[in-house]
Amino acid sequence: MAIMVTGGAGFIGSNFVLDWFKETDEPVINVDKLTYAGNLHNLDSLLNHPGHQFLQADICNREEMREIVGSYRPRAILNFAAESHVDRSIADPRDFIETNICGLFTLLDIARDYWDTLPEDRKKSFRFVQISTDEVFGSLAQTDTPFVEGSNYAPNSPYSASKASADFLARAYNRTYGLPTIVTNCSNNYGPYQFPEKLIPLVIHNCLNRLPIPIYGDGRQIRDWLYVGDHCAALRLLLEKGIAGENYVIGGRNEVRNIDMVRTICRLVDSRLTPSALRRSEELITFVADRPGHDTRYAIDGTKIETSLGWMPQETIETGLARTVDWYLSNSPWVTKVTSGDYRDWVEHQYAS
Ligand code: NAD
Ligand code: DAU
Repeated sequence: MAIMVTGGAGFIGSNFVLDWFKETDEPVINVDKLTYAGNLHNLDSLLNHPGHQFLQADICNREEMREIVGSYRPRAILNFAAESHVDRSIADPRDFIETNICGLFTLLDIARDYWDTLPEDRKKSFRFVQISTDEVFGSLAQTDTPFVEGSNYAPNSPYSASKASADFLARAYNRTYGLPTIVTNCSNNYGPYQFPEKLIPLVIHNCLNRLPIPIYGDGRQIRDWLYVGDHCAALRLLLEKGIAGENYVIGGRNEVRNIDMVRTICRLVDSRLTPSALRRSEELITFVADRPGHDTRYAIDGTKIETSLGWMPQETIETGLARTVDWYLSNSPWVTKVTSGDYRDWVEHQYAS
């Protein structure tokens, strides 16, 4: 038996694979195209692990996916592979449509052909987990109740529109062909190995390098933050106990305004610097033009997964952020590697004006 993970060299996917092997020896077939966001160094600690098989491949490539699924015959597929950064989707949506919609379609189609050939008991236990986002539900006003499984879809960016399309495809493959799909809609993750184009690692990186910390608009937008390890635990549970054909929203019950999050990180980083390097990182905060179509607020009511599966986040925002800041401080070679070359081009392009 083995599971197949796609996008397992990215932020959440690599955390999932690393956490998986802390819990079990069941093999993982890890398939990743290694785009700018994929990083094999995230998996360095698994270099000699007999259960970890890494394959560089594109989920849009039907022949490659057919070959991999047919050879390894996984008991489940978890699709983390995606273009994931909203700002990049605004700058150029093409890859988002290609990977997040067409790639997912290809993977579902290959999974369906494979699943059709399985004996009844394996057919029943097979799962295709599509890792999606709360962004598909659009933006909440301050007084709105948080997102639940039945919330209306109202995506506002090319990224969230592509993820919404993927959710519908996963649902359709369940309703039409019986493929046992589960869709998860998770809130903002943070933790080790997150590419520093995203808010939290960007702020840590800029504090340490005394660079301006860009806040879009007035910084009053709210995100519901979840430590990545808690997300991975929820996914492991859903893989075993989640009901096929259903969707689950996952969140941290940690609603924080961007400006407050940034100030907290500045203080955390400052508290860890040696006295000679001590400077007030908050002075680096710079308000910049807002993100077009910027969603005001995300929030999750995770009652379904909390009550039906007994999942609860283990990290508070305080413990999770402290772990994250400490990880970035102790892993500067990783940060240096990922913030060279392409990364600099992106930052220049995104924040030039
Ligand atoms: P990421 O950008 O860090 O990683 C994505 C990974 O997918 C990379 O390793 C990349 O190389 C790989 N990939 C991209 N295109 C591919 C293709 N065509 N074929 C194979 N591999 C490909 O993303 P992440 O933050 O780890 O997010 C993982 C998933 O979780 C995404 O689907 C995202 O929409 C979803 N999600 C993310 C968050 C978050 O806060 N980061 C929250 C909720 C949901
Ligand atoms: O909600 C889940 C989503 O969370 C995932 O689906 C996405 O893949 C993930 O990237 C994340 O999307 P966000 O757009 O919320 O994350 P990001 O880190 O890009 O931004 C968080 C907030 O911070 C958002 O309101 C925009 C703001 N921001 C971001 C950057 C990069 C800034 O103010 N300045 C910045 O430089």
